[in-house]
Amino acid sequence: MIALRSIEEIESIRKAGAIVAQALETVRKQARAGVTTAQLDAIASGVILSAGGIPAFKGYKGYPANICASVNEEVVHGIPSHRKLKDGDILSVDVGVKLGDYFADAALTVGIGRISGEAERLMRATHDSLQRGIELARPGNRLSDISSAVQQHVEAQGFSVVKAFVGHGIGTRIHEEPEIPNFGKPGKGPRLEAGMVLAIEPMVNAGTYEVEVLEDGWTAVTKDGKLSAHFEHTIAVTDSGARVLTAL
Ligand code: MF3
Ligand code: CO
Repeated sequence: MIALRSIEEIESIRKAGAIVAQALETVRKQARAGVTTAQLDAIASGVILSAGGIPAFKGYKGYPANICASVNEEVVHGIPSHRKLKDGDILSVDVGVKLGDYFADAALTVGIGRISGEAERLMRATHDSLQRGIELARPGNRLSDISSAVQQHVEAQGFSVVKAFVGHGIGTRIHEEPEIPNFGKPGKGPRLEAGMVLAIEPMVNAGTYEVEVLEDGWTAVTKDGKLSAHFEHTIAVTDSGARVLTAL
């Protein structure tokens, strides 16, 4: 069963989402060559706690940090560390916040200094595929219309969608029904209804779609070592279309 949230509940998720957005924006501005991903983790945690929220990933299935920080060939779930960012890297940052009883979740990828043309195109294709997916998150459409729009856009740009990880419903838990793959035929799955709250999160690889998880049990990397990007928003389906809840 996919939860249908009231206007008041959506407002609560939006408040959590505003903190997510603030943390992401702060990290985006502070991410530069020489800064470690552990420093960015501490900065994000500071923003979240000062705003009265709780970093939602910490302790989730044993996850050891506040945010995910995935560099270059790391796809998602990179654990912040003393690794210093360097010129030309791309960094995917994923933030989840619990505020009161409600959760919000979003991610973005940022370039460090001067990045390659391919990295630039990969980031843009991923960002734009999320926007295409969001546009289709409206009442009457089916869930896989979102998935299909993401995949179509990504593949038209010559990149591949990760299949091993998916988006998800969100609300009073970080992961709720339904799963939202970033691939598939349109016109399948549940019909979207006003009140559904969804985290749509394309993970896009420059080369093969295949990923593997490192020995740390978390960090997912591309099998071919090529770059990967990730953008995510928590949105509410409303009568007038999708409303992004993880915006400033
Ligand atoms: N946005 C990711 C997800 O929905 C982040 C989860 S990280 C974890 O799966 F540490 F909480 F697992
Ligand atoms: Co998510």
